[in-house]
Amino acid sequence: MRLLEERIRKDGEAVNETVLKVGSFINHQVDSAFMDALGRDFAQHFAGKGITKVFTIESSGIAPALMAAKHLNVPMVILKKQTSKILEGNVYQTRVMSFTKGTSYELTLFADYIGKDDRVLLIDDFLANGEAAMGAARLISQAGASLEGIGILIEKSFQKGRSRLEEAGYHVYSQARVARLAEGVIEFLPEDGTDTGE
Ligand code: G4P
Repeated sequence: MRLLEERIRKDGEAVNETVLKVGSFINHQVDSAFMDALGRDFAQHFAGKGITKVFTIESSGIAPALMAAKHLNVPMVILKKQTSKILEGNVYQTRVMSFTKGTSYELTLFADYIGKDDRVLLIDDFLANGEAAMGAARLISQAGASLEGIGILIEKSFQKGRSRLEEAGYHVYSQARVARLAEGVIEFLPEDGTDTGE
């Protein structure tokens, strides 16, 4: 998606070979009109899949997921990384390891917000090793629902997330696919993604 690539070129910062900073419009400050455009693009891409709910993982996925849900006219559900001590109820849980941050957490989905008939679209900001998305997929599967697609803002195509998700049978659509990072350098894959066998 040209719009996101252009914005990353303008406002993103490649810190090193692995980390891209996009704090001014995605992770810290959020450009709401821009998020609306990204959400519309996700909704158009996944139209016809019969999506009943948009899921995301807190926190940076919430803004684009909400916009996608708005354009698909369905609710958005947030998967939590920290379980609230106040809220009680039936939950689905799975442990997720973050290699980027060197931490792990218990990804939690409240059972009230998913049913066997749900057709879920998962939206997240970054795809690196695919651990978070695989964790979300496990929770959706535990609930007996189906994961119809995974929408990602920024895929780091030099990491193994996409191939893991595709090998597991999931349809992945990334709005920007970063082929290479280096200090001050950001390179994207061509839009048709020919060099990854799509
Ligand atoms: P994975 O799920 O694909 O395996 O990714 P990984 O665990 O490695 O990434 C964990 C966290 O690091 C995620 O944020 C992800 O968005 C973030 N991340 C990964 N690569 C980059 C990068 O190049 N730049 C930035 N800015 N973030 C990156 P999180 O812990 O879920 O945080 P948040 O959603 O609360 O912001």
